[in-house]
Amino acid sequence: MTPNHYEFPPLSLATVQAHAAHHLRTGGATPYLLCDLNIVTSKVDRLRAALPGVTPYYAMKANPDPRILAHLHTLGVPFEVASVYELETLLSLGVDASSIIFSNPVKPREAVEAAYKYSVTTMVVDHLDEVQKIASVSREIQLCLRLETSNTGSDWPLTGKFGASTSEALAIIDYCGKHGLPLMGLTFHVGSQCRNLDNWHTGISGARLLLSHMETAGLTPTLLNLGGGFPVQHTRPMPSIEAIGATITDALTGLPETVSVMAEPGRYLVGDSAWMVTRVVGTATRKGHRWLYLDVGAFTGLGETLEQFDYELLCDRDGPLVAMTVAGPTCDTADLLFHDKLLPGDLQEGDLIYLPNAGAYTTAYASTFNGFPLPEMVLKTC
Ligand SMILES: Cc1ncc(COP(=O)(O)O)c(C=O)c1O
Repeated sequence: MTPNHYEFPPLSLATVQAHAAHHLRTGGATPYLLCDLNIVTSKVDRLRAALPGVTPYYAMKANPDPRILAHLHTLGVPFEVASVYELETLLSLGVDASSIIFSNPVKPREAVEAAYKYSVTTMVVDHLDEVQKIASVSREIQLCLRLETSNTGSDWPLTGKFGASTSEALAIIDYCGKHGLPLMGLTFHVGSQCRNLDNWHTGISGARLLLSHMETAGLTPTLLNLGGGFPVQHTRPMPSIEAIGATITDALTGLPETVSVMAEPGRYLVGDSAWMVTRVVGTATRKGHRWLYLDVGAFTGLGETLEQFDYELLCDRDGPLVAMTVAGPTCDTADLLFHDKLLPGDLQEGDLIYLPNAGAYTTAYASTFNGFPLPEMVLKTC
């Protein structure tokens, strides 16, 4: 089988197959994630070229492996964090706290206090309650307001939980202006693996109106944070980063030079840097339908399948394709990965399955539920 949805020939199916054979011969186990840091480097370069004037901060929730973090740090990429644990991981790698943005819109008070003590200067809010919580810890912490925006056409929408509506945002801006609180920026998230260029246009236009309102309210806006959502080429057509960059550059035209622009890419920087290698642990034919059970599942690395996120499955066989149900190894019925996946009908117990584009939101989501081990992340060394 040949991959249809993978952009990086250096980590080709043949390379991954050869690596897996060696890995197993030398005592390695499945499931594991094979990651090529050279791809991370090329994604950083490509993003920077496509989005001139936009500073990418890595959203480490996508893959917090310390080797990826250290690599991005050497490339001069700053970071976005969601928790004190993430923050402390970065600090232990020598990352300067002032180059970190704390973007979780609702944080435990202790997290605000700890981050402030560590000298994190910028935190995201999306509600007056959070503004007041942060101000009660310190009125020096710079605030960046997360706005609601369209997530239409994103494979992993992020609306519904966070984001101030326009009327709420106006009220928060006015409150900060009136009480002298340092609200200095705006942010939004178009949804992860975003296929819809209009989402960036809509997000930026909405933010621009509110940036003007901030000035009217006596605030000095200095930051526009475009969030994440930049897609990897996956199982359906995706706009290229160059097309997204052109849309964003167009939408940013005329933005005051005093406003710096950043983004928080997660998936784009690491998604296609790694393949998941997994093994068929069992097969069954139930009511005439073929089932395949893998040693990686929804709880142990393929968590995004719980929201119907798709993956391409490749293998060493070439038999006639049969529609199969593919499940993970745990006893939970939710651990059903794919329905009617077309795979060679001669797949058997012990066969390896290779999933490209598995570098983001896989090991990061994995748990040891039912006692199954977490997939190890292995670096491709040459
Ligand atoms: C606040 C924030 N920033 C950035 C990201 C990264 O998004 P993506 O991986 O789609 O680039 C996320 C993802 O959940 C997020 O919640």
